[in-house]
Amino acid sequence: MDRRKLKKAATLVFIFAALGVMTTLVSYSVTLYRLFCQVTGANGTTQRVAADTAKLAGKTVTVFFNTNVAPGMPWRFEPVQSQVRIKLGQQALVFFEAQNRADHAIVGHATFNVTPAKAGIYFKKIQCFCFTEERLGAGQKVEMPVDFFVDPRLASDPNTADVDQITLSYTFFQSLKPKGAADLARFSSAPPSAAAGQQLFAQTCSACHGLDHAKEGPGLRGVFGRKAGSTGGYPYSSGLAKADFVWTAGRLDKWLANPQAFVPGALMPYHVDDPARRRDIIAYLRTLSATTAATRAQD
Ligand code: HEC
Repeated sequence: MDRRKLKKAATLVFIFAALGVMTTLVSYSVTLYRLFCQVTGANGTTQRVAADTAKLAGKTVTVFFNTNVAPGMPWRFEPVQSQVRIKLGQQALVFFEAQNRADHAIVGHATFNVTPAKAGIYFKKIQCFCFTEERLGAGQKVEMPVDFFVDPRLASDPNTADVDQITLSYTFFQSLKPKGAADLARFSSAPPSAAAGQQLFAQTCSACHGLDHAKEGPGLRGVFGRKAGSTGGYPYSSGLAKADFVWTAGRLDKWLANPQAFVPGALMPYHVDDPARRRDIIAYLRTLSATTAATRAQD
């Protein structure tokens, strides 16, 4: 009887030991599989590669953008550019425009989809509105950036080596868990507008500046890209008269923010506090310069 009990116990110990080994194997197999994939580069893993360490491969792919909104979602949602051509490993910044047409704030979340699906694991997003729930105020319009690159391993994987076109599709759904959503207002600083700048110029600058003639200040046509303090016949302050630089967007921005801090001894008794307004005004001044292309590189 005792022997049989002992045998039974031994069998039980064996069974538990075997079960233990199998469980351990099963729970490790995911890790083992990942390890295998990382070593061999096989499909199925979504490990992230830093853009700067990804080796640039010579191959170029075209990425197309596609947008949808779920039925009943009162947003307009469109890609700003329909496609971009990029080298593998090259980081690209693209924009999507969304507008909430409802009279109240709505939280949405975007799902995305990459075709061909086999290229999906090589499509790496660094920044995307699709990472979080997003709130858009009533009637608000924003341009949302997406930062991405295509992993150069797309070209070395035999399964995807033939892929030279990728489509990225987004669909916005109304969120079911709107709490804790990020606010898309963070993207609402509109790109500089030369038209708005022209209006601001007419309202403020034109009191002292003509375009082609001096008033209290010098004429400003062509000032973008022109040497500071150089329009003939205008009696500049000694500060501007001895300035030795060309007006670029960056310098105009500093000047407009605080002329005396940027050029000691300058006599312009006016400044513009709002950075967005400065950008608009500079965009307008830029349109008045024939040398725009030449000076753009110096920004
Ligand atoms: C109250 C008058 C006044 C207003 C308003 C004014 N400016 Fe001026 N601005 C001057 C004067 C005076 C100078 C010359 C300063 C000097 O010699 O130190 C000047 C110089 C400049 C210069 C340097 C030009 C050059 O040839 O180097 C720029 C650029 C400029 N202003 C841009 C603007 C813009 C843009 C606005 C509107 C946002 C504006 N200013 C508003 C009086 C004004």
